[in-house]
Amino acid sequence: MNEGFETLAIHAGQEPDPHTGAVVPPIYAVSTYKQDGVGGLRAGYEYSRSANPTRTALEECLAAVEGGARGLAFASGLAAEDTLLRTVCAPGDHVLIPDDAYGGTFRLFAKVLERWGVSYEPVSIGDVDAVRAAVRPETKVIWVETPTNPLLGIADIAGLASVAHDAGALLAVDNTFASPYLQQPIGLGADVVVHSTTKYVGGHSDVVGGALVAASAELGERLAYHQNAMGAVAGPFDAWLTLRGLKTLAVRMERHCDNAERVVELLASHPKVTQVLYPGLPEHPGHEVAAKQMRRFGGMVSFRVAGGEQAAVEVCNQTKLFTLGESLGGVESLIEHPGRMTHASAAGSPLEVPADLVRLSVGIETADDLLADLSRALG
Ligand SMILES: Cc1ncc(COP(=O)(O)O)c(C=O)c1O
Repeated sequence: MNEGFETLAIHAGQEPDPHTGAVVPPIYAVSTYKQDGVGGLRAGYEYSRSANPTRTALEECLAAVEGGARGLAFASGLAAEDTLLRTVCAPGDHVLIPDDAYGGTFRLFAKVLERWGVSYEPVSIGDVDAVRAAVRPETKVIWVETPTNPLLGIADIAGLASVAHDAGALLAVDNTFASPYLQQPIGLGADVVVHSTTKYVGGHSDVVGGALVAASAELGERLAYHQNAMGAVAGPFDAWLTLRGLKTLAVRMERHCDNAERVVELLASHPKVTQVLYPGLPEHPGHEVAAKQMRRFGGMVSFRVAGGEQAAVEVCNQTKLFTLGESLGGVESLIEHPGRMTHASAAGSPLEVPADLVRLSVGIETADDLLADLSRALG
């Protein structure tokens, strides 16, 4: 069946309940399942760390919307990342990561995995040749975010997939910023997609979660084994909320993109803004690649403020509709200062972000109200 994105988001993994006809998968708040004799599992369920029907519905839907073989839902994006890396890497292995990766991802490599013998190296993933040159014999994974958090850098997924595969490595793509509606990395050659479903997939700032979607059933099986063995699963309430969000992802993303474009227009002509970082701008160095691999350019916008760090912090303190807060991807607009907030853990490292940077998660409120709020805050 060749169903459209919206149809899959609303129906994949979500057949009406066979007992009641409920059109929404129920929240199976249950830890264990009656067995029909020893080893006689009903529909494969024995214990909710291994599998739970509400989580299965979300996992099947995630696999469908990303075009992958297997989806897995976790307690957070970082739990998904940790499970992936400890499934595919062993001591002595090496991972290439973006030189402006999400601060929490960087911290996972720098403060946790390195102690267990997995080394990492930040590289400019917007430059396919630089990535190829940085690959070592022990490189197991090329880790990509595109667009990146918070500098909105763009990586060529298809180009990096061939670099990874030539080297016998896996290409992992953190698709959190784009969401599966705007970009489907597996179709471009990625081996595994990573999500913080806390963001656009959930979409309502009411649940923390993560996901992995494997391109192959074989990798999916290994990840599922580790998901159960390591145990950082999404609970049924969280899986239900995330799935409810996923159903409306397409319409939300269209409005996020519409509003972001209006915000970019305002910022680009504002005298207090020295640079706007948005892959939809023709002058963005990744614009052509983004136009090739993304449906639209997303709801995240970063910009640099004339007057340096203090001026940037001041803008963050002045907005009213843009709420000062970490995270992104919800229906409500958020503003933050990455250097002091989301990316504080990268201070002093090669991933340190500019001090005059402000990041916006443009929500789906009335665009004119968002523009008025930003104009007022910029002064
Ligand atoms: C791009 C990206 N990846 C991963 C994560 C981690 O996800 P979580 O906060 O759900 O653990 C985040 C969180 O902000 C993120 O922005």
